[in-house]
Amino acid sequence: CGIVAYIGPKDATPILLQGLQRLEYRGYDSAGVAVVGRSGLKVRKTEGRVRDCAEGLPARFKGSPGIGHTRWATHGEPSDANAHPHVAGTVAVVHNGIIENADELRAKLVADGVEFSSETDSEVLAHLIARSSAADLAEAVRQALTEIVGTYGIAVIDSARPGTCVVARNGSPVVLGLGDKETFAASDVAALAGHTRQVVHLDDGELAVLSADGYRTFNLEGARTTPKEPSELDADPLAYDAGEHEHFMAKEIHEQPEVVERALRGRLDVRFSTAHLGGLNLDPREARAIRRVKIIGCGSAYYSGQLGAQLIEELARIPADAEPASEFRYRNPVVEADTLYVAVSQSGETYDTLAAVQELRRKGGRVLGLVNVVGSAIARECDGGIYLHAGPEVSVTSTKTFTATGVAFALLALYLGRTRDLSPSDGARIVRGLKAMPMQIAEILRQEDRIAELARGLAGHQGAFFIGRVRGFPIAREGAQKLKEVSYLHAEAYPASELKHGPLALISPDLPTVAIVPDDELRDKNLTTLGEINARKGRVIAIAHSELSADAILVPKNERELDPILMSIPLQLLAYHAALALGHDIDKPRNLAKSVTVE
Ligand code: G6P
Repeated sequence: CGIVAYIGPKDATPILLQGLQRLEYRGYDSAGVAVVGRSGLKVRKTEGRVRDCAEGLPARFKGSPGIGHTRWATHGEPSDANAHPHVAGTVAVVHNGIIENADELRAKLVADGVEFSSETDSEVLAHLIARSSAADLAEAVRQALTEIVGTYGIAVIDSARPGTCVVARNGSPVVLGLGDKETFAASDVAALAGHTRQVVHLDDGELAVLSADGYRTFNLEGARTTPKEPSELDADPLAYDAGEHEHFMAKEIHEQPEVVERALRGRLDVRFSTAHLGGLNLDPREARAIRRVKIIGCGSAYYSGQLGAQLIEELARIPADAEPASEFRYRNPVVEADTLYVAVSQSGETYDTLAAVQELRRKGGRVLGLVNVVGSAIARECDGGIYLHAGPEVSVTSTKTFTATGVAFALLALYLGRTRDLSPSDGARIVRGLKAMPMQIAEILRQEDRIAELARGLAGHQGAFFIGRVRGFPIAREGAQKLKEVSYLHAEAYPASELKHGPLALISPDLPTVAIVPDDELRDKNLTTLGEINARKGRVIAIAHSELSADAILVPKNERELDPILMSIPLQLLAYHAALALGHDIDKPRNLAKSVTVE
């Protein structure tokens, strides 16, 4: 979910709505705003998108301070009643996170005669705050928070105490934006871009009272916390504009040549055929002591981790594997001092990944972060890392950050490899390969029309198989994930080698297969698999380096270790055009959120 708050001389409503639109990637089941107007509290909330909420607003819906919310349902279905803000008397609250003892608190409040109007855990907070006898809103919020167990990022206003807005954070980010006689707060800087460049990140367990003139922070005991030096926000408001493209997904796919250039900038050492990664905080001697690499992440970040594990094993010859962070954290992992842990996250906020990183740190593990959002929770929690520098990714399904993560892993593998047995000439080969990538991506993007045609064919089926061998398998998984996310077609990824051990039973003219077939030492094996599919009259779309008998999308050849990164780009276009043909809401697929900031 996303929250935004404003206090200042302007009317809060348009600022809140624009902020919410930028935060919709965090959830878009329902949206709402509340402002303190001349005649008291005004609230509008509705199931649906931010634009649905904006449409019904009367002209007199004006005021300041104000708060807003866009929701991804956890407790209670998406509905007008369950949408935030939640109101109790003159108090309105927006909340991200999960209140674990909500049922217990609700039962107590109900026994005291409180009437609830939603099924959400968040409404409990509104009632607790409204019932506090404290004269000061900040004190009422603080008292309420001491009663709850769980995670939160909240913003609160009260028309009976109009000069302030109170925000608090515990496990769900809140960032303050400091303007000229106006103050903002949001769960992500995206909502602040264009309004201010001065931002302050709250810490867990911290509250802030906002006024038009600034803010004050304190902790749950009520003691003032040390004022923080504001940091400079570098988010470009234009990043939140799709420009000439119909969708952000298309824009972000097309940005990839520059994204790769940015990810590489200043990081390639041509002279010694290695990578400069200052943020790693890992000198060659420490790098040599690593016996294993364990990569964690969720969704596409996990698949990019599988790709990364492959690169690290091949180039650095260190045993490496990837695991969903959401699984890792729950199985009481054995944490070893000579294992290097790598957490991958575009947003730097995914709660499962963050919790896994915290557990690793608690057990003394050394964790690196491969993160896109600078200063995000995961980035701050790690011992070091590599920023992706891909720029804000708005579309829910990730494209450019998957590619940028692949490049970051190639750099990490190159660095680790060159502290071990990777020869200077092999290192030079990888450096050359990485440098060639932006041009080669541009070449792939020029084939969009042909890929779109194949995608339209795919869209006519119920689903598809995605297969790849060894290096190609993570790419097949990511390709299947893309298709599922945006086209809602069923897609299953399988190692090409495993097809004959079961799923071949499903092959028929109705179920097409997308196959990753690079010109590498496994090409002949892959061709044998394609032969087995052909023999069952299965249709194949091959992502390949040279013409095959099947429908092929040709990709320029790079070094064999790096080819998979390039081969995922046609799969992004395939998913995009299949979804376009099916008429889906590409940037905001049903049921999903870009950052899942709850367990
Ligand atoms: C959500 C999104 C996925 C994304 C995953 C990890 O589940 O729907 O597309 O890959 O989170 O996000 P992160 O920001 O940690 O990379």
